[in-house]
Amino acid sequence: MKLSGKTELVEYIKEFITKKGAISFRDFMEIALYYPYYGYYTSDKDKIGGFGDYFTSSELDPIFGQLLAKQFIEIYQRYFDKQQTQIVELGSGKGYLLHDVIRYIKESYPEIYQNIKFISVEKSDYHRQLQKELLKDFDNIEYFPDISDLPKIKGIIYSNELFDAIPTHMIKVRDGKVYEVYLTLDKEDEVVEIEREIFKEIRRYIEDLSIELPDNITTEINIDAIKVISMLADKLEKGFIFTIDYGYPSRELYKPYRNRGTLICYYKHTYNENYYQNVGLQDITSHVNFSALSYYGEKSGLKTVGFTDQAHFLVNLGLAEELNNLYEKGDYKSYERANRLKTLILPKGMGEKFKILIQSKNIENPQLEGLKITPPQTDRYKL
Ligand SMILES: C[S@@+](CC[C@H](N)C(=O)[O-])C[C@H]1O[C@@H](n2cnc3c(N)ncnc32)[C@H](O)[C@@H]1O
Repeated sequence: MKLSGKTELVEYIKEFITKKGAISFRDFMEIALYYPYYGYYTSDKDKIGGFGDYFTSSELDPIFGQLLAKQFIEIYQRYFDKQQTQIVELGSGKGYLLHDVIRYIKESYPEIYQNIKFISVEKSDYHRQLQKELLKDFDNIEYFPDISDLPKIKGIIYSNELFDAIPTHMIKVRDGKVYEVYLTLDKEDEVVEIEREIFKEIRRYIEDLSIELPDNITTEINIDAIKVISMLADKLEKGFIFTIDYGYPSRELYKPYRNRGTLICYYKHTYNENYYQNVGLQDITSHVNFSALSYYGEKSGLKTVGFTDQAHFLVNLGLAEELNNLYEKGDYKSYERANRLKTLILPKGMGEKFKILIQSKNIENPQLEGLKITPPQTDRYKL
């Protein structure tokens, strides 16, 4: 396969492969997304929204951030009353979600707002600049480029579509043996995927989670994601972690009918599976293994409070009432907005595809409105 995309990045990757002989798919993904200045997320290209490559829930309508904030307020009142707390968004992109969360709390609960420090952790300098502009009217936000910069947190850490953007190892199973996919260059300078022995963290991950990999599957094992959840467990002194993203528990993720894995590229609102084209210009993402976040979170001191989907979570927090209000108004604008809100909860769409894992630390008997009614416990929900 020919490598194509941003010339500087393509040249860098070729040089890097030539120097090393071969690089892991994970390293390729890291460079394609995050290489300084030229990577997909680090470049100053519009990615999220109408002029970008895909939409996120936070771009669709402020209701998403408002209902999330409503859940945070319940947590504050129940577990942190009158205390100083922090609300942290990880991988906050252009800052829309954080904006909607802060604005809702400031306008609806000004006395609680005084007690909250907001923190944005965003790796991309370009996205951090956009956020600072968008959020300039709020004076209680700190910005960090890296999760390791976070202080100890008492409060809430949340992310929306962060974990799917974390570089992942690609593996293949052949004749019952698991290999990791590396990339090398052939005589024509084209990328060739080769197989190498897996290293011990991948082996341990498969054993720890009792993953049964079908033969001939090509799929992903995200070691960096479990490093992130372990680091968050260490940073959180007391409170909750909300992870919102598309993905499944292990037993669904590695089913034989997903034998091509879940890696996918987004480019101008279309998707493709050619990771080696449009390098630096297209997003590369994979589904999140929520069993892994839950398991390694528990190993690091977190408690798994619940696992649900976006539709149940948002409806529990009042999305249906919002829809009713809009229908009662009956004007064209309200009708249009109601349609946008429905997108957030559509079965087979964002409503089911997006899951929410909620973990806690040092919270007695955690109970949350967002988990009042949860989906039937099929393989898609059993962690
Ligand atoms: C798919 S975007 C989601 C943006 C936003 N949360 C939203 O809902 O629109 C993922 C974002 O996470 C950022 N990111 C990826 N890995 C990160 C990390 N380790 N620390 C902080 N930010 C990260 C990327 O730069 C990107 O802005």
